[in-house]
Amino acid sequence: MTNMDQDILKILYTEEEIASRIHALGAQMYEDLKDKEPLFISVLRGAFIFMADIVRACQVRSDVEFIAVSSYGSGTSSTGAVKITHDIQQDITGRNLVVIEDILDSGNTLHFLKQYFMTKGAASVSICTLMDKPSRRAKQVIPDYVGFTVPDEFVVGYGLDYDQKYRNLPYIGVLKPEVYEGD
Ligand code: PRP
Repeated sequence: MTNMDQDILKILYTEEEIASRIHALGAQMYEDLKDKEPLFISVLRGAFIFMADIVRACQVRSDVEFIAVSSYGSGTSSTGAVKITHDIQQDITGRNLVVIEDILDSGNTLHFLKQYFMTKGAASVSICTLMDKPSRRAKQVIPDYVGFTVPDEFVVGYGLDYDQKYRNLPYIGVLKPEVYEGD
């Protein structure tokens, strides 16, 4: 057991379960995207690990981009306003985009990004999220590809953080309340 494992109440998805689900998702996406030469856009930071795995699970001719956003507000919920802190570096006119996210929660981030990319002239914008938490939705966003539909618990690992930590856990787990209580 590592010093990070001690902070985990329970494991929601093991490393093996995540790999197996991504393998299946990648195959499904391949069938849809094989003639579209998609541009995969990862939303930093949380999606960086999922991005690396899903693009290898979906062996379609494609390229990759990264965008970073921050939500105004603090704590575990956002206010809805989204700001781009690092933008994509290429013209996306006429491209078929697949936005890669680690988690879809209130929907504020993806609602904003989908509109942003359409305004920039994308031909289509699909959404692939490893986790979907539909119980928390504030804006209507319908993902095209979902790894796991998850309960309303505070999850960390496999890219997801608490206070910028735990992103490198190989599994997805729920933090012990005492780790964040008092914040
Ligand atoms: C998380 C996650 C999504 C967003 C989803 O990012 O990676 O981008 O929140 O939440 P929403 O549906 O309520 O908008 P976060 O702001 O924690 O930053 P991070 O990716 O750097 O961890």
